[in-house]
Amino acid sequence: MKQGGSEAAKRAAGESAAEVVEDGMVVGLGTGSTAAHAIRALGRAVDAGLDITGVPTSFQSRELARECGIPLVDLDAASVDLAIDGADEVAGGDLVKGGGAAHAREKVVDASADRFLVVADPTKLADALSHPVPVEVLPVARTTVADAVRDLGGAPSLRRAERKDGPVVTDNGNLVLDCDFGTVEEPAPLGRALAGTPGAVEHGLFIGLADELHVGTEDGVTVQDL
Ligand code: 5RP
Repeated sequence: MKQGGSEAAKRAAGESAAEVVEDGMVVGLGTGSTAAHAIRALGRAVDAGLDITGVPTSFQSRELARECGIPLVDLDAASVDLAIDGADEVAGGDLVKGGGAAHAREKVVDASADRFLVVADPTKLADALSHPVPVEVLPVARTTVADAVRDLGGAPSLRRAERKDGPVVTDNGNLVLDCDFGTVEEPAPLGRALAGTPGAVEHGLFIGLADELHVGTEDGVTVQDL
């Protein structure tokens, strides 16, 4: 697993993406420590007069956006101009997301956006995707989806909660299987197979959804089209 980028790098990436936001936009607010820097920067901009509305992707991003004074709207009442979100791994134009178990709502919001900006530190970059793929599952389908993942060559493991006995329960009331497929040479067919598994609510492969990547370092930011 790739994690542990510096806070300065995450902040640089988040603030760089927040600078792209323009007056009047509806902005998808991603989940995770890197996206949180973008939300805080947007909150400061709102304080300074920027007129935007946010669409949160999780309980956590909703709470942070509220604290930062960003007006919010539900996705069914707005269309998203720009989404800013983090990733657990980035390879080419593809991502693994779901480290915060928020990938189902994140995918709905990020995929609906006219433009989706990924914010990351260099520890997230890879030549090929190999991070375990989170799959949100209906509780009743935990074992059947795990069997299907094994049939696809993966090793599923139920995500356990910290500071609570038992599993992580998502914002949608479901469970998460972290599915290790080793190096995924062809993410698209794997994504289709996971999406077609009964009881799998959403998987964390984001294939070809992102438009732009902001990679922060201690010294600055690089921006590239995806
Ligand atoms: C949450 C996500 C996050 O965006 C991803 O886990 C990256 O988080 P961080 O910026 O804290 O490393 O997909 O479901």
